[in-house]
Amino acid sequence: MSDTKTIDWSKLRADFPILHQQVHGKPLVYFDNAATSQKPRAVIDALVHYYEHDNANVHRGIHELSNRATNAFEAARTRTAKFINAKSADEIIFTRGTTESINLVAATWGAKHLKAGDVILLTELEHHSNLVPWQMLAAKTGAKLAYVPVTGDDGVLDLSQLDALLTPAVKIFSMVHISNSMGTVNPVAEMCARAKKLGIVTLVDGAQSAGHLPVDVQTIGCDFFAFSGHKICGPTGIGVLYGRTEVLATMPPYQGGGEMILSVGYQKSDFKPAPHRFEAGTPDISGPIGLHAAMDYLDAIGRANIWRHDQELANYAAEQLGSLKNIRIFGPKNNRAGLVSFLLKDVHAHDVVTLADQGGVALRGGHHCTQPLMHKLGVESTARASFYFYNTKAEVDTFIEVIKEIQKFFAA
Ligand code: ALA
Repeated sequence: MSDTKTIDWSKLRADFPILHQQVHGKPLVYFDNAATSQKPRAVIDALVHYYEHDNANVHRGIHELSNRATNAFEAARTRTAKFINAKSADEIIFTRGTTESINLVAATWGAKHLKAGDVILLTELEHHSNLVPWQMLAAKTGAKLAYVPVTGDDGVLDLSQLDALLTPAVKIFSMVHISNSMGTVNPVAEMCARAKKLGIVTLVDGAQSAGHLPVDVQTIGCDFFAFSGHKICGPTGIGVLYGRTEVLATMPPYQGGGEMILSVGYQKSDFKPAPHRFEAGTPDISGPIGLHAAMDYLDAIGRANIWRHDQELANYAAEQLGSLKNIRIFGPKNNRAGLVSFLLKDVHAHDVVTLADQGGVALRGGHHCTQPLMHKLGVESTARASFYFYNTKAEVDTFIEVIKEIQKFFAA
């Protein structure tokens, strides 16, 4: 993370039309970035330009518009490979999001390689999108699920147990890079290396990391990496699955239909190689084009800079919250990603979020699609503030004032 150029963070806010509004008569403070990020003008313009000038189906026509749409679609694939340092654009499959990317691996790699008695290793930090597809696969194949445990409210994994968990029965180890509910940053390169030594396939859920810090899939050494466009300033409905060439080559298709075939007969078909084998039917075309603009936008700022900024805000927010009474704060003390989960004593997280909204502050409250983790920590839900590079320290101050008001309201 050597990029140290000085950024005028407040100037970047001007690129986001949505941020300049009032909510319930108060300036909007958008702290729900782990759920979805806002979109800069460059991304909105790329979508408008595509629909106003180039809209056509891809890979099918030989007319000008179809060529333009195909070129833009495939250029987005090449750009995505560069964004995460994949070796080849053929390792990039466009999906609807992280959830579909993981479902694709479970349905195709899983169907081919898993059998009864095999073990799927996960961590106790996983989002439902990295739990439920594996549970469904386990039910179908007779494979079992095992988990790397979390130590407590700090949301840190007990990696001292990893070697014992990496038994010969483990065939895949699927792990979250940054926990969406705790803000933990897992040492995924180390975790993948320990699994790989034993021939275990690895998947990293990068939903909360791809747009927040530099990601290099070759350095991480994973076989799969999944992320979503909408969390990195891109449009909703577009996601990415990176798969290492050698592993993708072993996998059957995901869905059947147009464009994923080489030839079709009435009884049997032959399939294209990756990535097209995994992209049946007319894809989301504007999505990758918007995603391309988002990646250009983020990398012009520098993800190392974004990471530093987000961590600073999260540490500041955790410190300010920590100075309040009757509050329980979750997540690691060191190396916290850009979010803070917390609970006010005797106040339901949904009440915190509803009252914060009245103050113009958008938070998220609930189990954050990590229900098993909540149960393990003995809570039903938390309130969560999650930050991005367009957020400011002054907004954190507003948020803290709002939380103090909520505490006073419930104390009265
Ligand atoms: N996974 C998203 C979140 O954490 C939706 O809010």
